[in-house]
Amino acid sequence: MTENIFPTTQAIGRGQKEKLLKQKGFAIWFVGLSGAGKTTIAIALEKELYKRGFLTQLLDADNIRAGINNNLGFSEADRHENIRRAAEIAKLFVNTGVITICCFISPTESIRNCAKNIIGEKDYYEIFVNTPLYICEQRDVKGLYKKARAGELKDFTGIHSLFEHPQNSFLEVKPEEENMDQIVCKIMAHITLFVSG
Ligand code: ADX
Repeated sequence: MTENIFPTTQAIGRGQKEKLLKQKGFAIWFVGLSGAGKTTIAIALEKELYKRGFLTQLLDADNIRAGINNNLGFSEADRHENIRRAAEIAKLFVNTGVITICCFISPTESIRNCAKNIIGEKDYYEIFVNTPLYICEQRDVKGLYKKARAGELKDFTGIHSLFEHPQNSFLEVKPEEENMDQIVCKIMAHITLFVSG
């Protein structure tokens, strides 16, 4: 029988899990308008981290709103609850040592503070994907801006629902001025210091 090196009543802690994974857990929280490029950047970043041997988890509207938050809409209260639950899930991953990449519009400072407080300031790295509204609307990848302008969608962020310019982000990226390689390099340069266990 193998020797049990852990006391039976004590759970395995975050530090032990981080040691096992040879990395530190933290959350990158991408903020920006619908169509700003949050998830596209997150996927590119995730691939780069994977290549370097780091374990990640991506959380965004597609996997969170389709499942655990499928009872929520886009009123201010529902967005708050959407972010509260997403942040609680992110915290569980972070405490397992996983680099958790979250992509949510997170339209107000109050909502962003909610995410930061749940995850914990030292584990929360906010990145503002600063693509102006007129460009998101021009691109309109999902056709949602057109529907919002036609009145078929209500409470659409940037059209009839507020997006507050982030004031306290860790980093800002501008997909209109920087290509994807530059953006990923810039983010990697800022997280390299604390990514390794
Ligand atoms: S948040 O405001 O609560 O942070 P979240 O990031 O989860 O929003 O979801 C945004 C995504 O939902 C958009 O990228 C878009 O695809 C879709 N969506 C559908 N209706 C709306 C709406 N009224 N406002 C913004 N996004 C919407």
